[in-house]
Amino acid sequence: MISVKTEEEIGLLREPCGIVRDCLSFVGERIRAGMTTKEVDALVYDFIKASGAEPSCLGYYGYPASACVSVNEVVVHGIPGDRVLREGDIVSVDLCAYKNGFHGDGCRTFRIGEVGPEKEKLVRVTEECFFKAVEGLKAGTPLYDIGYRVQQHAEGNGFSVIRAYTGHGIGREMHEDPSVPNFGRKGTGVRLRAGTVICIEPMIAAGGWRVRVSDDGWTAVTADGKPAAHYENTVVIRDEGVEILTL
Ligand code: MF3
Ligand code: CO
Repeated sequence: MISVKTEEEIGLLREPCGIVRDCLSFVGERIRAGMTTKEVDALVYDFIKASGAEPSCLGYYGYPASACVSVNEVVVHGIPGDRVLREGDIVSVDLCAYKNGFHGDGCRTFRIGEVGPEKEKLVRVTEECFFKAVEGLKAGTPLYDIGYRVQQHAEGNGFSVIRAYTGHGIGREMHEDPSVPNFGRKGTGVRLRAGTVICIEPMIAAGGWRVRVSDDGWTAVTADGKPAAHYENTVVIRDEGVEILTL
């Protein structure tokens, strides 16, 4: 069931979403070559705790960290560890904060120094996919128009859309209905209602869309080893447009 949040609930959601936004900026100012992905996770844990929130990912279905830190060919759910970030890497940092009984969720892909033209374009196009998706989005828009717009922009730039993972509703639970795919047919799906809160999160690959999950049960890598990027915000559907809570 797709829920509609009251203004009071949206008010409560603003705080965890603001913490996600600020935490992503905080990480962006500090992430650099030579750091391990575990050190990135520690920044996230400390920031969220210091903000009086809880890292929603920690312990979620046994997930062992506060952030997903996904380097280059890792698409999503990269478990932080001893991998050292190097100049030329792209690193997506995906995190959720829980406060006031609500979750906020967001992700950015950071560049470590100069990343070269292919990764540069991939990161840019992935962010653009999000903004294409929210352009014109408002109450009454068919759900799969979001995926249609993401897919048009990604494929129009020679990239592919990851199929195995999607965006989602969010609120008292980190993952609520509906599932929000990054591909789809224009004009199809339920019509979104004002007050629905969703995470729109394009996951875009430079090569093919197939992924493989590593032996750790989480880390999803592209089957062809080409890089992938991820960008996500928590968004409220409004009568006249959207309100982006994590920007
Ligand atoms: N933040 C992710 C999302 O966008 C969820 C991470 S799964 C977890 O849905 F297990 F790491 F929490
Ligand atoms: Co999400």
